[in-house]
Amino acid sequence: MSDTDGAAGAGFAAYQSEIYLNGLEGRLPPFTTDPTALEDAARGRLEPGPFGYVAGAAGSGSTARANREAFDRWRIVPRMLRDATVRDLRTTVLGTGMPAPVLLAPVGVQSVVHPDGELATARAAASLGVPAVLSTASSHTLEDVAEASGDGPRWFQLYWPDDDEVCAGILERARATGHTTLVVTLDTWTLGWRPHDLDLSYLPFIRGVGTAIPFSDPAFRAQLARPPEEDPVSAVLRWVQMFTGTDRSWERLPFLRERWDGPIVLKGVLHPDDARRAAAAGMDGVVVSNHGGRQVDGAVAALDVLPEIAAAVGDRIEVLFDSGVRTGSDVLKALALGARAVLVGRPYVYGLALGGEDGVRHVLRGLLADLDLTLGLTGHRSPAELSPEVLRQA
Ligand SMILES: Cc1cc2nc3c(=O)[nH]c(=O)nc-3n(C[C@H](O)[C@H](O)[C@H](O)COP(=O)(O)O)c2cc1C
Repeated sequence: MSDTDGAAGAGFAAYQSEIYLNGLEGRLPPFTTDPTALEDAARGRLEPGPFGYVAGAAGSGSTARANREAFDRWRIVPRMLRDATVRDLRTTVLGTGMPAPVLLAPVGVQSVVHPDGELATARAAASLGVPAVLSTASSHTLEDVAEASGDGPRWFQLYWPDDDEVCAGILERARATGHTTLVVTLDTWTLGWRPHDLDLSYLPFIRGVGTAIPFSDPAFRAQLARPPEEDPVSAVLRWVQMFTGTDRSWERLPFLRERWDGPIVLKGVLHPDDARRAAAAGMDGVVVSNHGGRQVDGAVAALDVLPEIAAAVGDRIEVLFDSGVRTGSDVLKALALGARAVLVGRPYVYGLALGGEDGVRHVLRGLLADLDLTLGLTGHRSPAELSPEVLRQA
């Protein structure tokens, strides 16, 4: 078993031996190591509003279920005697070196599950060298989260406000705080129909949660008659108007290209033609994603369209993936089907709910250990060795 430092990109499997050795001293993991049991564990910890906000999906939940079912339809065919003892999971995506092809997906309003929210997530991710993508709907400011992430790699996710000045101001701050890649979310220009939240009338934004970035933004504040500290309701209403309700067109992308000198990735792409348009528009990557099933009920599982999107643009731009990744074998399957890296959403948020920074780290180390072990047990030494040949359809 390799005992190399996890942050160096190898040896994530060591978390397994650490857990067993701790057991000899009567110490158990802080909470479950079963990623499929995290949701239930978090249900016991959170109030119904925040729990439903995280776990919920659009409509009947069929897209979220489809995401999981799609993974189950692919099976891995392990290979033997291939000397996979020493493994290296490191990769570089759009100039960002990472210890494994795994990032933390942008998740807004994290303070609804833990007061430290994005700060705890940033610290946990940075301690492993894993990039965390900070959401525009963060409950802490860009500057505070950047500081919390220390030397860790930083990407920023944009919900594209319809006010150009405010948008430009936020992009400037994101650059100034060391965010290298911009992830522009396309699938949430308005919220999908989410019964979990509707039934409890629970929407964090209109309660002023997840508004730290605009509220600390000079261009946004300049538009308000009174500052958010004095009149939070008017400030919230102005922001909600600005960042929901306006769809964009491909013709508007140069606005972002001109204001962001690093890589830009479009998140929420599900059709190969949209991926081709992204490449033609000079974008650097796409995230194949249906937002974890939270936007369009009855949508195609993200994994089901990954191979055709990878085939359409994978030779020109980076193809990333999220929606439904829970286990190491899920990561392996997505990589084999053409993703350069995956983003994981709900699991780490459950970790945050259950244990703050340590909870996020536990979930992340568990996922990376599982990936490391699964790679080895299937006869692979690095993610680069994976291809569709590794899989069979059930
Ligand atoms: C509670 C919650 C909040 C989210 N907030 C954002 C967000 O602010 N910006 C964004 O681009 N995606 C957001 N997402 C979507 C995630 O980035 C990601 O696409 C999704 O969670 C992946 O699916 P998974 O949860 O099955 O891993 C959110 C997801 C959840 C569960």
